[in-house]
Formats: sequence, structure tokens, C-alpha cells
Amino acid sequence: MDGSALKVLVIGGSGFVSGTLARVARDAGHEVWVVTRGQRPVPEGVTALTADRKDRQAFAAAVAGAGVEWDLAVDCIGYQAEDAVQDVEVLSPRVGHLVFISTDFVFDPARRAFPQPFGNPHFLAEGYGGGKRACEEVLSAADTGDMRWTVFRPCHIYGPGSQLGCLPEHGRDPELIARMRAGEPLRLVGGGHFLQQPIFVRDLAELALSAHGCDLAHRGIYCSAGPDIIESRRYYEIIAEVLGVEARIEEVSVAQARIDHPEWASFLCHRIYDVTPLRLAGLQVPNTPIAAGLREHVRSLL
Ligand SMILES: NC(=O)c1ccc[n+]([C@@H]2O[C@H](COP(=O)([O-])OP(=O)(O)OC[C@H]3O[C@@H](n4cnc5c(N)ncnc54)[C@H](OP(=O)(O)O)[C@@H]3O)[C@@H](O)[C@H]2O)c1
Repeated sequence: MDGSALKVLVIGGSGFVSGTLARVARDAGHEVWVVTRGQRPVPEGVTALTADRKDRQAFAAAVAGAGVEWDLAVDCIGYQAEDAVQDVEVLSPRVGHLVFISTDFVFDPARRAFPQPFGNPHFLAEGYGGGKRACEEVLSAADTGDMRWTVFRPCHIYGPGSQLGCLPEHGRDPELIARMRAGEPLRLVGGGHFLQQPIFVRDLAELALSAHGCDLAHRGIYCSAGPDIIESRRYYEIIAEVLGVEARIEEVSVAQARIDHPEWASFLCHRIYDVTPLRLAGLQVPNTPIAAGLREHVRSLL
């Protein structure tokens, strides 16, 4: 980012990631627009555009009708190839730089390397991860004219605005604090030994904003992770420390979980990354320590 105020368009804007991004951008002094269906309140001080992106005409009309040329747009809610096509068609005439929020679930969990190289070519073709990968492919193949673009693939995102929990059976578990206070054992796949590198939501927002003006990030696709590599069980132990209780963990068999819950496959692997490419590109490298970020997250829920 070049330090001056930007015009920023957020696709989404009242959710966990998108709402945080809108607030972080606003607090940094940028002028912020958000596009949502208007079902939840948007952050104060931003300009709300209302459209369902699945209604392509309505979305195009809302964006064009704002009559703005944005420096940066961040698509927080693209899930299918047609969403990325929409970004190219509707945003490229009026946006300087597009950031697309993908996911580390694009990778085939059975064919990872550690730390996962950004260029690992083994991707999922279906489901949530497959859809995000299709969006990345649309951008890579598209003529985006003068609009630059950058893709970020966050791993587990945590922080105020979401529920706690990074691994089945206690992923985004709204009852987690109550369970831990009651001394209930937490059932974690593999005993919680899978490695993770969670990213704090405000760090992700700052990373996204830092793409603007970053020449090397044009056409870049980056795994986006926090500074600490931890066993997943450590995440729960930190929560226990904040609550002043003991973390009791029961192991759920990985083999059985693979049979019973094929939809958990992308969780049942190590999810760790070398963030050097972020630094080398001149992007804002996530730096909130997991203990500090989780403390803030837990307190936001108390
Ligand atoms: N959580 C994680 O650990 C994780 C990890 C990797 C990547 N991600 C990615 O992070 C992003 C999450 O974004 P988020 O937290 O902001 O999502 P969210 O909490 O589900 O919020 C969705 C936002 O988009 C709006 N919206 C939903 N459907 C819409 C539509 N059809 N047209 C226009 N607006 C619509 C919602 O407002 P209205 O309801 O008012 O429309 C809301 O503002 C996703 O891309 C996800 O894949 C998450």
C-alpha cells in the first residue's frame, strides 16, 4: 500500500472476514464500499451497495451504478468459477487491483508436502476446495485488462466475529467455552496432533490491503498463514489457559474419521506453509502470535 487513502470495494462486507476487512480498511483511513444482500448490518462508516451476486444483472447494475473507480476490490465470497468470471467482467473496467480470497482447501489433502509448496499442483476438483480452485483458474486464464489481481489462500482463520475451534469434532463449536468450563473432554481427530498455522483475521485483512501497489503480487497466488506452527491441540490448550481450566482431550481415530466423515478430509492433514513468498513480494506478513490472537478471540466471546 502506498500510504494514501484508497477507494476499496468489498464483495461481502458484513461477515466474519469481509466485515473485519471493511472495518480494518475504514480504520486505516480508506473509503469503503461493501456489496451484500442487505441481510445483516454493515460496519458503520462504509457505503452499502445492495445486490445478490447470484443475480448477475443486479450485481453489475449495483456496482456500475455506484459510479466509482476503485483502487482495490476484495472478493471475500467467491466460491464458483462463475463468481470469478463475474469479477473479471464487472470489476476489471473500474478496479485497479482485485484480491480474491481463496482457501488452502484447494489442495488435495492426500498429496501435500511439508511445508506445502505454493506451487504444489495437486488440487481438488470438486466441492468447496475444487470450486475455489476453479476461481483461481479463471483469473489465471483471464484477460483482466488494466486490473491487477492477487489470490490469497488462508488456512484456518480465527478472531473476533467467528466461533472457536479449528479441528473436528470441535471446529467452529459455539459450545466450546461452555464445554471446557464444564470439564467436558474435547474429542479431536488424531488427538489434535495435526499441525496448523492459523491466521488472525485482522492480519488477513491487512495482507489483503497490502496487495494494492505491490508490483510483485500481480498474478500471484499465496498461501496465507500466521506466524506460529502449532499442533491443533495447542490451540485448545491456549483457550483453556485463557479460561483458567484444564484442556482434556480425547483422541478420535483418524482412520475411522476418514470412513465416517469423508467431508472432513481437508482437515485431516498438516496445514503448514512457508510464508517467505509473502515477504519477498513485499506483502504485509501476518504477525499476530497465536496466543495473543486467541486471547482476544476468547475474550470477544465471553
Ligand atoms: N473461515 C475460515 O477459516 C476460512 C479459511 C479459508 C478461506 N475462507 C474464506 O473466507 C471467506 C469468508 O468470508 P466471510 O467470513 O465474510 O463470510 P460470511 O461470514 O459467510 O459472510 C458473507 C458475507 O457476504 C454477504 N453475502 C453472502 N451471500 C451473498 C450474495 N449472494 N450476494 C451478495 N452478498 C452476499 C453476506 O451479507 P448478506 O447475508 O447480507 O448478503 C456477508 O456480508 C470465504 O471466501 C471463505 O472461503 C475462510
